[in-house]
Amino acid sequence: MTHSFLSKDRPYLYLLLFSCLFLLLTFIVVYPKDLRLQSLFSPCRNSDPSVAGPVSIKPDFRMLIGILTTPKTFERRHLLRHVYSKSLWPDKNVTDCLDIRFVVCNNVTNEDHITMLELEIMAYNDIIILNCTETVLFDKTHSYFSSLPDLFGRDQPYDYVMKTDDDTYLRLDALVASLRDKPRTDMYYGLDIPCNGTEFNFWIPAPFMTGLGYVLSWDVVEWMADSEMPLDFTNHAEDMMLGWWLQIGEKGKNRYNNTPMMYDFRGDDQEPNCYRHDLTADTIAVHRLKENSRWSTVLKYFNVTHGLITPSKLHDFS
Ligand SMILES: *[C@@H]1O[C@H](CO)[C@@H](O)[C@H](O)[C@H]1NC(C)=O
Ligand SMILES: *[C@@H]1O[C@H](CO)[C@@H](O)[C@H](O)[C@H]1NC(C)=O
Ligand SMILES: *[C@@H]1O[C@H](CO)[C@@H](O)[C@H](O)[C@H]1NC(C)=O
Ligand SMILES: *[C@@H]1O[C@H](CO)[C@@H](O)[C@H](O)[C@H]1NC(C)=O
Ligand SMILES: *[C@@H]1O[C@H](CO)[C@@H](O)[C@H](O)[C@H]1NC(C)=O
Repeated sequence: MTHSFLSKDRPYLYLLLFSCLFLLLTFIVVYPKDLRLQSLFSPCRNSDPSVAGPVSIKPDFRMLIGILTTPKTFERRHLLRHVYSKSLWPDKNVTDCLDIRFVVCNNVTNEDHITMLELEIMAYNDIIILNCTETVLFDKTHSYFSSLPDLFGRDQPYDYVMKTDDDTYLRLDALVASLRDKPRTDMYYGLDIPCNGTEFNFWIPAPFMTGLGYVLSWDVVEWMADSEMPLDFTNHAEDMMLGWWLQIGEKGKNRYNNTPMMYDFRGDDQEPNCYRHDLTADTIAVHRLKENSRWSTVLKYFNVTHGLITPSKLHDFS
């Protein structure tokens, strides 16, 4: 059931939003910079596509990162906003731009989740709501990619589009550095499965980049939007179906496998293999960060806050 935000039959929501708006305005006046999503790089475009104008200087590198997330995980989104905030990445390259957006489907029914999403949209404007049904299957991924030309236009708004999950940590600088010299067309980049030969014990229709995070060039995204999807693809594992579809369509022939820099976090009781191992300094992406304790382990390992906090008597840990 599609839910329309701010419907007339929920007047209390207006009251709530009015109060928030008032608070928000107070903040905008007092702290104008603090309310923007402090993304690592400069944004590629206005965050609301309906008011998008041309960017003044065409950046050298433009990527959209869509983090597929569900309405209820607002706490995780908050963590990710911190993790990808500009203050953690002082050495950003100003010629790069990166838009990071959270992607949810519009079958939201829980009133609390709707309220949270509305607040987040007001504060950060970094959410894309698609006409789809929440699922981990290909349906949502397909909606994501195939809606992008409608949302952002066809004039190559991005060089690359990434799909990732909210339990993946991307090291944005390493990711961008590894993409810089790659072709901007017909590209398919990620962690290729099966990795290292046969370390996958079930039959797959075609090799594919795992769903922890993969990148397509814009032309492949347009091709998906314009192509008839093979029947019955929507109800299967999203990453596998994408790999199969690209093989059938002979797309994504510039293929880049980033093992062992993209991998799953290794749990205490798990053997390492080619897609799961201990943290390494050359990491691009690490996945299966479901618990906050794993996030904390990872962020500590990569020295994410190390030396960046100015000593102050307001926040003295010692
Ligand atoms: C910044 O971007 C430019 C242009 O793409 C590139 O040549 C340069 O290597 C980048 N610098 C860093 C530190 O990544
Ligand atoms: C959306 O619909 C799917 C399938 O009916 C359901 O499993 C899911 O819980 C719904 N999502 C939300 C956020 O209600
Ligand atoms: C949303 O998707 C449903 C099911 O595919 C379709 O019937 C409906 O017309 C779509 N709504 C919009 C606004 O595109
Ligand atoms: C790849 O497989 C070979 C043998 O199957 C094994 O010896 C090697 O350790 C594996 N490499 C990784 C990175 O898992
Ligand atoms: C984190 O910082 C420590 C101490 O400065 C250093 O030895 C280590 O290599 C850093 N780790 C990474 C992943 O860069």
